Amino acid sequence: MKTQIFDIKDENLNAAHLKEAAQILHRGGTVAFPTETVYGLGANALDTNAVAKIYVAKGRPSDNPLIVHIAEVEDLDPLVDHVSDMAKELMKAFWPGPLTLIFPKNENVPMSVTAGLATVAVRMPAHPIARVLIRESGVPVAAPSANLSGKPSPTDADHVINDLSGRVDAIVCGQSSDVGLESTVLDVTGEIPVILRPGGVTKEDIIAVVGKCDIDPAIEKAMSKHLTPKSPGMKYTHYAPEADLFVYEGETEKVIYHIKKLKSEYEAEGLKVGIMTCDEHSTRYGNGFVRSLGSKADLATLASKLFSVLRAFDQDGVDIILSEGFSREGIGHALMNRLLKAAGHRVIQL
Ligand code: TXA
Ligand code: MG
Repeated sequence: MKTQIFDIKDENLNAAHLKEAAQILHRGGTVAFPTETVYGLGANALDTNAVAKIYVAKGRPSDNPLIVHIAEVEDLDPLVDHVSDMAKELMKAFWPGPLTLIFPKNENVPMSVTAGLATVAVRMPAHPIARVLIRESGVPVAAPSANLSGKPSPTDADHVINDLSGRVDAIVCGQSSDVGLESTVLDVTGEIPVILRPGGVTKEDIIAVVGKCDIDPAIEKAMSKHLTPKSPGMKYTHYAPEADLFVYEGETEKVIYHIKKLKSEYEAEGLKVGIMTCDEHSTRYGNGFVRSLGSKADLATLASKLFSVLRAFDQDGVDIILSEGFSREGIGHALMNRLLKAAGHRVIQL
């Protein structure tokens, strides 16, 4: 399959390319596009054949439902059964933006989008290219992250080209994603909103608007045998790098000492070792594959770099990655959730 590459890195919203991409969506094709969270792989959410192409292109298990993306609040009504007052307040506060809401679905939404669930996930992205693309396509756009299943979500057009060239109809290339982690998934079907996947909109942000918010306990123990995550996608070990990844948490000097010691031990065995750290500590580990996520004081930047750094380690061909842990404050909660998932929860407390 030939994949058309549409370069809109200059963010020209009048580009003929953008209209062409919208037409492809309208006709039932697959188009990858930038959003402020991560790149998405879109298709017409109301067209069962188009939706099936997404699962094939990604190699995605069919029991993992998709998020439907809309351009305007009015586009929600045709998809859902009911919108609670609480959901309306949250939409007013956080749409467009990195918040996905779970609603009771109506009969317009095919079962292949929701993987058989009676609910549908909906998000209105803030990225200007995504907004124009969806609006011009004239259809709601089902879009998972535009990575091959099992790879980290793409935060840069090159990641998408690497994963999906030859597997989709078109890729719209914009700038790198600002947030760099997937949206917060929030279940608003009950009395209390429940975070099913942490992201750019935090528990504190939600409490500030509606006064309450729970977190699905399965998030912290995604690998637990006893808790089944309510968001089907959370049960998969997505985001795993090729290398074995271990996370070290605790008192800073102890963490650095321990990682350095392991690095030299593994290197003596002939292994290629990657170190994931922050700007403040990056000179502490000597030579080799040392990669910083940014200043530890700037959690938003750390979060935005995680997936691209994991991909860079894959390109380096390291055998093992030793990572520092980071703060769980604010967006740090989502950052550590993705990091621990990528590590298969191999975290060592020092
Ligand atoms: O930021 C994002 O959300 C990106 C961009 C492209 O919008 N999309 C994304 O999609 O991350 P995906 O498919 O990689 O993740 C969707 C998550 C999965 O964990 C899935 O299980 C969950 O949302 N989900 C979808 N529909 C659901 C539903 N009805 N109930 C519970 N969880 C649902
Ligand atoms: Mg994904």
